[in-house]
Amino acid sequence: MTRHTENTQENHSLAGDHPSCRFSVAPMLDWTDRHCRYFHRLLSQHALLYTEMVTTGAIIHGKGDFLSFNEEEHPVALQLGGSNPADLAHCAKLAQERGYDEVNLNVGCPSDRVQNGRFGACLMGEADLVALCVSAMREVVDIPVTVKTRIGIDEQDSYQFLVDFVGTVSEKGGCDNFTIHARKAWLSGLSPKENREIPPLDYPRVYQLKQDFPHLTMAINGGVKTLAEIQAHLEHLDGVMVGREAYQNPYLLAEVDQQLFGSERPAIKRREVVEAMYPYIERQLANGSYLGHMTRHMLGLFQNMPGARQWRRHISENAHKPGAGIEVVQQALDKIPAHLDV
Ligand SMILES: Cc1cc2nc3c(=O)[nH]c(=O)nc-3n(C[C@H](O)[C@H](O)[C@H](O)COP(=O)(O)O)c2cc1C
Repeated sequence: MTRHTENTQENHSLAGDHPSCRFSVAPMLDWTDRHCRYFHRLLSQHALLYTEMVTTGAIIHGKGDFLSFNEEEHPVALQLGGSNPADLAHCAKLAQERGYDEVNLNVGCPSDRVQNGRFGACLMGEADLVALCVSAMREVVDIPVTVKTRIGIDEQDSYQFLVDFVGTVSEKGGCDNFTIHARKAWLSGLSPKENREIPPLDYPRVYQLKQDFPHLTMAINGGVKTLAEIQAHLEHLDGVMVGREAYQNPYLLAEVDQQLFGSERPAIKRREVVEAMYPYIERQLANGSYLGHMTRHMLGLFQNMPGARQWRRHISENAHKPGAGIEVVQQALDKIPAHLDV
């Protein structure tokens, strides 16, 4: 498969034909859109990037192209929401045709809207159905079919429940690659946001799962904020997926290639990232995108640096004005003190 990142050779030698899950940026609805992923790719050439969850209903019946991405985003995984094996297989096939490197099934999202559609976290209670979904997808694609799930739902939160779920989905469905968000979900009573904060994290449970299923590729997710924490998890697991911290403090991604993938290229500077966004932003503006839809993902880039607040404020106050163009970003960058080599 052709990769269009600058550093094609390095990608291939490290990741082989399958994208490496050693480090990934989590699927996040409304956050990890294609603009965000383009921006993240400038920071790390090797991180596996996930799309927002896209439902099979949107792909099959919706108006608009829910599968578009920039070639530069590779390796990129499409996350699907759904529970109809035929629909999922159809969408997985489309994903492969469009060039996605992986298809992931969402078995972790607890929102009401999602439960009514009978997919997301509630599917943890239907392991046989998840197995059917995975095997239907695997039958029609060559790219990896992976599952992102939790450690339990509601009162079904014993270790045995998790073992049974992963056992069924791997043995009957053929899934060999799981990402486990190391907390359970309450299907009612908590908002999706609370479900990412209130149920306690249980990393040892995920470590144990890897020990009990050593043949499965397993990544951990939830509450990870630093490269040191990532390194510590990698002592036990094959990969780490980071969500909120990668979005809110994206410069975390700049060290990933050297520290986790053995790259010798120096980390890109924050300023260079902004400047590398200019041609992309101009192209997208010319195609009718709004500046604010791109710059909103960049607000956290200078976190903890002098001028960060002014950078953020200038963009927030100006990027949504009608006709806002690239000059807004240039002016915001001027708020970062010139002598800072960041
Ligand atoms: C704004 C937002 C949207 C999310 N949307 C999705 C989604 O579409 N699919 C999914 O599997 N998880 C979704 N999640 C959950 C994340 O993928 C991740 O599992 C969770 O945030 C825990 O990881 P973290 O502590 O590193 O953020 C979302 C999280 C956030 C903050």
